[in-house]
Amino acid sequence: MKKYDKDFENIFGDELGCHQFLLPYRRAYLIMEAMLNGLNDEIKSFYEHSPIHSIKGRVKTPESIIDKLYRRGFEVSMNGVLELTDICGLRVICKYVDDIYDLRAALIAQPGVEVIRESDYVRNPKPNGYRSYHIILTIPVGNQRVPVEIQIRTIAMDMWASLEHNLYYKNDHEKKEEIELRLFQCSQMLVLLDEEMEDLYKELNENWKEHRIG
Ligand code: GTP
Ligand code: MG
Repeated sequence: MKKYDKDFENIFGDELGCHQFLLPYRRAYLIMEAMLNGLNDEIKSFYEHSPIHSIKGRVKTPESIIDKLYRRGFEVSMNGVLELTDICGLRVICKYVDDIYDLRAALIAQPGVEVIRESDYVRNPKPNGYRSYHIILTIPVGNQRVPVEIQIRTIAMDMWASLEHNLYYKNDHEKKEEIELRLFQCSQMLVLLDEEMEDLYKELNENWKEHRIG
């Protein structure tokens, strides 16, 4: 934290102040994780299929919060911090593409959940090939509303995003364009893989449609 000693002090005061500021975000994390696991159980009870493969996530560290303020050109102050919507972030890894949309529908229908913004990079992938469904929402925690960023993706999408993220930082040489092209081609293979695995699932579960609402 040496790097941001002055900023840390200006924004949070001291360690205790920072800890207390982050408490609602930690509670929001636990609430969201429980909500997602509960929805997984509910969906399983009427689809005979649980959409969630795994959940990961984090509450940002103070260092990563201040880093992001600089990176994104936000004011390096508490006002800037309050503009961040991904201090609390969860990544939900689903089995199939349809699961993403089922889970998303169930999630945004939950009482207390208010959607701020959604980006469907599954139907509209980013030019580099990135796919995921992003939801920025708020939930009530005590007497305040806390923003949470949810990324919903398949195992294949998660694999690509994880590896691309690592390679991105090593990609500063003259082969940049070639590597970007190859990463994009990998993403196309994973689109086909997601489709094929979902087809297999549907063929092996002939009654899958009866279990689905929409
Ligand atoms: P951030 O300020 O970085 O959160 O981006 P944003 O607010 O403009 O939103 P966006 O939906 O573009 O990205 C939010 C998050 O999605 C990022 O922090 C990453 O976790 C993930 N993400 C978005 N694009 C990519 C990508 O091209 N590759 C990978 N690996 N992850 C991505
Ligand atoms: Mg973001």
